[in-house]
Amino acid sequence: MSKRISILLVLITLFSCDSNENRKKNISIGFSQSINNDIWRKSMDHAMEVEASLHPDVKLTIYNADRNVKKQIRDIDKMIEQGMDVIIIAPYESDSIIPVIEKANLKGIPVVIVDRKINTTNYTAFLGADNLEVGKIAGKQIVSLSKGHANVVEIRAESITSPGIERSSGFRQITGQYPNIKTVSVDFDDFESLNSKYVKILDSIPNIDYVVAFNDIIAYKAWKITKKKRPNNKIKFIGVDGLSGPNGGVQLVKDGILAGTILYPTGGAESIKLALRIINKEIVSKNNKLSTILIDSLNAEIMSSQFDKISLQQSDIEKQENFIRVQNEKYSSQNSLLKISIALSMMLFSLAVYSVYSRIIISRKKKELEKTNEKIISQRNEIEKFAKELKQSNEAKLNFFTGLSHEFKTPITLIMSYV
Ligand code: FRU
Repeated sequence: MSKRISILLVLITLFSCDSNENRKKNISIGFSQSINNDIWRKSMDHAMEVEASLHPDVKLTIYNADRNVKKQIRDIDKMIEQGMDVIIIAPYESDSIIPVIEKANLKGIPVVIVDRKINTTNYTAFLGADNLEVGKIAGKQIVSLSKGHANVVEIRAESITSPGIERSSGFRQITGQYPNIKTVSVDFDDFESLNSKYVKILDSIPNIDYVVAFNDIIAYKAWKITKKKRPNNKIKFIGVDGLSGPNGGVQLVKDGILAGTILYPTGGAESIKLALRIINKEIVSKNNKLSTILIDSLNAEIMSSQFDKISLQQSDIEKQENFIRVQNEKYSSQNSLLKISIALSMMLFSLAVYSVYSRIIISRKKKELEKTNEKIISQRNEIEKFAKELKQSNEAKLNFFTGLSHEFKTPITLIMSYV
C-alpha cells in the first residue's frame, strides 16, 4: 500500500514537471511561408523567429510550401486541425487558397495575410507595404534622374501575384505621364528564361538607360548579364526589397551595382506583434501598411548603418535569448532532478516508516505467539499430568479388580472343590 503511494507521488511529481513545460508555450502561432529559397523569405522567417522568441509563451511553427499552392493549402489545413491560435499566411497566389482561409474563418481562427494580397476579405488582417507605391517610387526616381527622357526595360515578375501586378501598375502610372520615357516590359519566369529574353532585348535596343526589376535579385542578375554583354554600359539598375546584409540590395547600392532599391519590408516581426494583439483581443485595423522608401547612393550608407545597428541589437537579443534558454533548461532539469530526489526521499522515508511499523507489528505478533505457545505448553503439561493420573487410577482400578477377583477366586475354588 505504502509502496503504491510512493510510486504515485513520483508520478505526480513527474507530471507536474511536464505540465510546467506545457504551460510555458500556450500560444500557438502557425506560419505558412510560400517560398523558401530566397534571402527575402529567409529574412522574413528569421524576423518572425526572433520576435516570437521574445515571448516565452509563444510557440511558432513555420510550414514551407516551396512555391507549391497545393502544399500551402494542405499546410493551412493542418494548422486549422491543430487549432492554432492565429495563422499567418504569406500567400503564393491570390485565388486557390481562398476556400481554406474561409474554413479557418468559419472555425474562428484569426488569419493574418502578409505581403501578397488574396481575392477575399474573409481574413482578420493584412500586413505589408503598398506595392503600388513601390512601383510609383521607382517611376518617380527614373523621371527625376532622366528629366523625363529615357529608354527603360521593366522586368516584371509573377504577374499572377499582387506585388507583380501592383508594382508594374504603379510604375506605369508615373512613367506613363512622360511621353519621352519609353518602356519595354519583359516577364520574369525563371532565371534560365530571363537570360535569353533579356539578351534579346539588349541586342534589339542599343540605348537602354534604365532597367527596373521586380526585385533586387532579378536586378542583380540583369546587371551581371549586361556587364558580360556590354562591359562599358552606363545603364542604371533599380530593384526592390532593400535588404541589409552582404547579399542585400543596400549593399548592391553601396557597391554601385544598383542605382537604387525600394525598401520592401518583410513584416516578419510586425506580423507576430499583430498576431499577439489579435490573441489579446485588441482591436486591429484590417489593413496594416508597412512603410517603404527609396534607398540610393545618398542614403545607402545611413540606411546600412541603421540596419547594422538593428541587426547587432537583434543578435544581442538572440544571444541573450539563447543564454536565458540554456539557463532555463538547466533550471528545469535541476528542478526535475530535485523533484525526483524529493519523491525518492519521500519513498525511502515511507519505506522506512513502513519497515519500523512492520517491526512493531512483528514483535507484537511474536509476543502473542509466545503467549499462545506458553498456554499450549501448559495445557499440554496439564493433559500429560491428567493422562498420568488417569493411567495411575486405571492401574489402581485394575489392581483392585485383580485383587478382588483373586479374593473371590480362592473361596470360590474352595467351595467348588467342596461341592
Ligand atoms: C521574395 C519576393 C520578394 C518580393 C516579394 C513579393 O520571394 O519575390 O523579392 O518583394 O517576394 O512577394
